[in-house]
Amino acid sequence: MVRLTLSRMVMVMVVVVESLYLMVVLQKMAELEMSCGDPDHDQDEDEDDDENDLVDKEEMKKELLLINGVLFPDAAATAWCGIAWPPLYVITPTYKRNTQLADLTRLAQTLMHVPALHWIVVEDAEHPREVVGELLVRSGLPFTHLSATTPPEYKDAKMMGRGVFNRREGLRWVREHATEGVLYFADDDNTYDIRIFEQMRGTRRASVFPVGMILSLGISSPVVRDGKVVAFHDGFQAGRKFAVDMAGFAVNLRVVHASPGATIPIRVSYLEDGFLRQLRLELEDLEPLAWGCTQVLVWHTRTNRPATPNMDHVTKDHLDTNLVHLYRNILR
Ligand code: UGA
Ligand code: MN
Repeated sequence: MVRLTLSRMVMVMVVVVESLYLMVVLQKMAELEMSCGDPDHDQDEDEDDDENDLVDKEEMKKELLLINGVLFPDAAATAWCGIAWPPLYVITPTYKRNTQLADLTRLAQTLMHVPALHWIVVEDAEHPREVVGELLVRSGLPFTHLSATTPPEYKDAKMMGRGVFNRREGLRWVREHATEGVLYFADDDNTYDIRIFEQMRGTRRASVFPVGMILSLGISSPVVRDGKVVAFHDGFQAGRKFAVDMAGFAVNLRVVHASPGATIPIRVSYLEDGFLRQLRLELEDLEPLAWGCTQVLVWHTRTNRPATPNMDHVTKDHLDTNLVHLYRNILR
């Protein structure tokens, strides 16, 4: 009897708490809808209010950014108001290996939360592969699927960085097809907090931010004093002017176009430094993100390599089962 009453009380409390939460959410949504206006709003009225609209949109942006990460996912909030954000061009070099589809799936499903983003996936291969293309289509993201190989003269080069020629191909595409926006190189195996994409969208020249789980210090970060980048806290300095990881910076396309010859150098560990130098950037150009580089929003994660699946592992008595199709699918 007592137990019954107790469980009823708990149920009533749960219902009350849930209702209160729902009320708060609905109120926030109503406020947001009011600030966004009616999307089916009359065209003529819009023209009359052109100037006010501009002001309102600035206000809206502020409000949305304030709400971002607190209540609404960025994509939902932005799509709702139809604000034209500066586009992000994200270049991802990738190559075939056991962990590729797992890594790309995680990255795709991160980027799916980010509005106004064009994903340029460049395979280190002769041709773009169907299985990667299918993943890109499933993501629903605007994307470009390319491939590039290492030229024969570099095939045996020692001390060569990874993903150089496919990154270069991505860069070539961006130079040719995009004029405005922000460029970011997102390796396929890192982990990205979606808030970093909204922060880098405002990059005027080049923005920098900490990268977690990397090198001997376990962190790589710009050193910020009085809001300015003064040095780099990174396990590998070695004469680098910009001791940053590929995941730790974004650049405005104006800067990229201003140096048409700037490219990714091939020498391992100097890809980032070389590229930023060729863009003729200086320390004072760098805009520290992630709250003055006090938080980590990108991690240099590495996926453990599992054993390579092999069709020979399917025993004779299972040749008429799903396993044959499963292996065919994962070995594509
Ligand atoms: C570190 C840096 O974070 C990379 O940005 C840098 O390119 C790399 O070192 C380097 O050695 O040059 P790390 O985790 O060691 O990264 O390298 P990977 O994640 O294996 O490769 C970086 C990117 O290049 C990945 O997106 C990967 O898919 C791609 N890659 C790697 C290729 O396209 N082809 C390859 O043969 C190897
Ligand atoms: Mn990596």
